[in-house]
Amino acid sequence: MDSELQQLAGDIVSHPQFQQLRTLQHHGAGNTVYDHSVAVARAAYAIARRMRLSGDETASVVRAALLHDFFGYDWHGERFRRYLRRYSGVKRLMRMHAFVHGPLAASRAKHTFGLSSRECEAIARHMFPLAAMPRTRIAWIVTLADKAVASKEMAAALSGYVSLACQRAVA
Ligand SMILES: [Fe+2]
Ligand SMILES: [Fe+2]
Repeated sequence: MDSELQQLAGDIVSHPQFQQLRTLQHHGAGNTVYDHSVAVARAAYAIARRMRLSGDETASVVRAALLHDFFGYDWHGERFRRYLRRYSGVKRLMRMHAFVHGPLAASRAKHTFGLSSRECEAIARHMFPLAAMPRTRIAWIVTLADKAVASKEMAAALSGYVSLACQRAVA
């Protein structure tokens, strides 16, 4: 990690609860929430530098980006599926990972790292348009960095699945 980025990240990356994100699969078999969060922080930091944001604002961008997916549960796992199966229709839809994880990540980030309300709002809204529209530069940067990184990771995962399927078809 870039030394300035590491400095701005403070004690977040080495914190045991952030390190635990290494155990949670995210976009494809080879991608964890930790990999994704660090990649989003890098992308958001690059945007903040390019926009010449102040040091304080850049630090907020990095903290919010690192913690935007700090929800802390396995959304691919059976436990989460069992929880969803308790609901149906719109109630189930509104509890799906895409809708709930932003506010959950914001509340955990505030509790664990004492993030500011502006940083928490950026986290809570990063799933726009499935969440409310971002209102600050920090929130827009985190949202855009997340979309760019997630698209790349999902495209890589998809191409991995397609090539595996092709190999199996010709074997
Ligand atoms: Fe997310
Ligand atoms: Fe994300």
